[in-house]
Amino acid sequence: MIQVNFTPRVELDKIEKIVEEIKSDSMGGWADLPLKLSTLKLQKIQEVAEKIRKESDVVVMVGIGGSYLGHRAVIEALKPHAGIEMVYIGNSLSRRDLEFNLRKIQNRDFSVIVISKSGTTLEPARAFETVKQKLAERYGVVGAIKRIYAITDARKGVLHDEAVRDNYTRFVVPDNVGGRYSVLSPVGLLPMAVAGIKVEELLRGAAEMAENVDETFLGSENAERKHEVSSAIKYAVMRNLLQNKGYDTEVFATFEPATAYFNEWIKQLFGESEGKNLQGVFPASAVYSTDLHSLGQFMQDGRRNLWETIINYPTDETNAKVVEAVQKAHIKGRIPVLKIDVSTYDERGFGELIYFFEMACAISAKLAGVNPFDQPGVEAYKEELKNLLQK
Ligand code: PA5
Repeated sequence: MIQVNFTPRVELDKIEKIVEEIKSDSMGGWADLPLKLSTLKLQKIQEVAEKIRKESDVVVMVGIGGSYLGHRAVIEALKPHAGIEMVYIGNSLSRRDLEFNLRKIQNRDFSVIVISKSGTTLEPARAFETVKQKLAERYGVVGAIKRIYAITDARKGVLHDEAVRDNYTRFVVPDNVGGRYSVLSPVGLLPMAVAGIKVEELLRGAAEMAENVDETFLGSENAERKHEVSSAIKYAVMRNLLQNKGYDTEVFATFEPATAYFNEWIKQLFGESEGKNLQGVFPASAVYSTDLHSLGQFMQDGRRNLWETIINYPTDETNAKVVEAVQKAHIKGRIPVLKIDVSTYDERGFGELIYFFEMACAISAKLAGVNPFDQPGVEAYKEELKNLLQK
């Protein structure tokens, strides 16, 4: 289980109420995903993943934000050997980037997984149009349809309507799960299964973390609480204390370059969940030791408005010394350093870590008095872009 190197004073009754509020929120469905996903649904995911693997050398993944970062993070971190290449499009509007990525499907068999909860987001919608054309050129209209897998809302949206009309293989993003909390739903599970990630193990790790959070509250206000406070709760409380002391930037430091995308997922989770109503801690990422030769100076000696959260994956002896050295140096440089020790570098460890951050983020946002589950700022940009493109 994940360990942390700090023990803030936790007002358990207050946190218990917050966790209850989170779970009963109309967007709190993610909290139950690791425990409630049915065997049947998981079986369908595995079967479809197997079919995609048999038919393709490359899988083109279309999606942005919460519809893309989580599965990419785990796939890049674990690099499974399923003999299939994942290509990611629809996460920007750059034509150049799209063309560069689509070079990878030349002369190779490919399938497309398109993910959009709303089914209307511009970046994936445009990229999907282009890749659909490529599919039709290669496999004909009927052949193309058999190679498209859509993950979207159960009832509405342009993508939903098209998927129903053209009979694409379909998976649903549950109504009560928002984009950035959806990695343990089909949004993350199908791409990960295709890539060769052991998704049952990932879910097992997440379920263990969920139980670890729940066990914190066994006992009651009057009876003695017998269980240790979950590390996810300690971390949420600790970052709230730091925020209240005026620290406004959190640098997530990893010493494993393969986990750089996991940091990207964390940045989105905290950035979109907390950054609203003029509140929030700015989430930043550093990949060490690479970034010690770029950001190192600032970390050691720059403006003291930040703290560092080290995500400490099990690693080799020399790299572990780097972790120790950084911790010592940065504490001397007067940076608060939080350390999160990850138990295992595998599916189970990442499952734990995903649930750890999701729960910590939701609690933390609630402690700061903001809604962890909406993203009005993202909608504002989408609206402006639509207006400009219409002109
Ligand atoms: O967390 C969120 O809700 C967002 O980041 C969305 O995932 C992102 O904007 C993509 O939206 P959609 O899946 O509707 O295309």
